[in-house]
Amino acid sequence: MSPMTQRSQKRWRWWREALSAIAFAVAPYSTVAGDTVPDPVKLANLVRQDCGSCHGLTLKGGLGKPLTADRMTQWDRSQIVHIILDGVPGTPMPPWRPLLSEADARWIADSLKKGMLQ
Ligand code: HEC
Repeated sequence: MSPMTQRSQKRWRWWREALSAIAFAVAPYSTVAGDTVPDPVKLANLVRQDCGSCHGLTLKGGLGKPLTADRMTQWDRSQIVHIILDGVPGTPMPPWRPLLSEADARWIADSLKKGMLQ
């Protein structure tokens, strides 16, 4: 093996190690920012308490409209996810993006459609 190839192989190995060290350091954060596995207990409580403060404890409506399975038939899953993450501008319905991941919002949308949290 020529000294030249040896040196470039060594450099390549260094990069590989450096990159995997970075990936390792960043991994815990990317699961926080990205799609985490929804925690049903946490989300069910959030829906009852936080969403319930406007939509009613049994989600039958209050300041916000009812979130009953009946009413949710008018929206498809992706529309509900969009409403949850981005809110309804010009109304008190706030965007939940700072607190909820896409996966969380999908879980909530599915649960509302099934009437699981009523
Ligand atoms: C600060 C009060 C408030 C909170 C908290 C709140 N909402 Fe709302 N939400 C509203 C209001 C008001 C509307 C009606 C907006 C409109 O006039 O179209 C609404 C509308 C909606 C709609 C559309 C309903 C429909 O059929 O038109 C969905 C779905 C929804 N909210 C889900 C949620 C979820 C899920 C949460 C909790 C993660 C939540 N909201 C928390 C006030 C709130």
